[in-house]
Amino acid sequence: MSAPNPVRCAVIGTKNIAGQHLPVLQALPEAEVAALCDIDAQALDETSRRFGIEPTFKSADDLQAWGEFDAVYVLVSVLAVAEVAERFIRAGIPTFLEKPPGLYSSDTERLAAAVRETGTTAMVGLNRRFYTCLQAGREALLNTGDIVSVTVHADEVTAPHWEGSKFPPEVAARWAYANSIHALDLLRYLGGDVASVTSLVRQRGLPKPDSFSALLEYESGAVGRAVSDQFGPKGTGHFYEARTRNAVLTSRSGLSSCVLEVRGREAVRFDLTGLDRRLKPGFPGESRAFLRAVQTGEPVSFPAPTLDDAVRTMKMIDEITGAEEWAPKPAT
Ligand SMILES: NC(=O)c1ccc[n+]([C@@H]2O[C@H](COP(=O)([O-])OP(=O)(O)OC[C@H]3O[C@@H](n4cnc5c(N)ncnc54)[C@H](O)[C@@H]3O)[C@@H](O)[C@H]2O)c1
Repeated sequence: MSAPNPVRCAVIGTKNIAGQHLPVLQALPEAEVAALCDIDAQALDETSRRFGIEPTFKSADDLQAWGEFDAVYVLVSVLAVAEVAERFIRAGIPTFLEKPPGLYSSDTERLAAAVRETGTTAMVGLNRRFYTCLQAGREALLNTGDIVSVTVHADEVTAPHWEGSKFPPEVAARWAYANSIHALDLLRYLGGDVASVTSLVRQRGLPKPDSFSALLEYESGAVGRAVSDQFGPKGTGHFYEARTRNAVLTSRSGLSSCVLEVRGREAVRFDLTGLDRRLKPGFPGESRAFLRAVQTGEPVSFPAPTLDDAVRTMKMIDEITGAEEWAPKPAT
């Protein structure tokens, strides 16, 4: 049987993270980068030359009018992702969205509704779920029994985002969604759906609440613990630990490996494998999952995050951060 044709991908947003996605798309036989699009002419030109990709388009309108592609990668600035993605989802064009799909749960719900109404293939780039070390470690942990607890630290240095970085204050105020979502989503990747959250929210050094400590009860009855301090130095940074009755999986020495300790056995370490070793970890796996869904027409499935899945993670973050109480509201 011959291999299916590569998926012709148009990449929208060509700056920082595009520089990590493009080498992955160029390395995967199931992808072909068909075009680039950015409203910033300089970024567009530089990326076109660096990766040898043409044609280029200065707006999503122009790209869509051209139309010679099978799928889009929406890698635009945080506040633009939802709007750009929605037009392609509504046009029935398979859409990969960088996280966060919307900065607000209500934006992400709107995108999820568009997917339900149109049946368009869409997937969110929560790439930690595709780290090869974590996938292997999780599988080995699950072989030891049911998960009974998951602990995640999503500590970050966020002061620079309040001091005139490329991020607007609205994004700085919702950093738990803009970036900590990577770590907080692992609560659901490792433990499943969450039934209830009890949280303590404090303000220690930034213009908005910046310290979040929560206890979670999973639908399975397992317990979760989420810690996200955004003030001061990084400390532990992003970290996960998941336990069954006899075993514990931790990312204790950084996210590019994890260690499984099973009672009475020697600890086993899982490292990154395959393309994860030389490209941005998790990006090859997530793109393979998306491209397979586009080629087969089958829905994306776990661990690939759908828009509905992303809504569930964002609603969990709403409860951990109490953001509904204090954070800016969507403009609409
Ligand atoms: N998965 C990860 O590890 C990871 C890491 C960093 C960023 N991200 C996500 O990737 C996305 C992009 O982040 P970045 O750091 O590359 O941002 P960036 O600011 O470096 O680049 C964004 C680009 O999008 C362009 N753009 C904005 N609006 C546009 C529009 N309407 N049409 C076309 N182009 C438009 C900008 O001109 C800019 O060149 C964000 O959603 C961010 O959260 C993910």
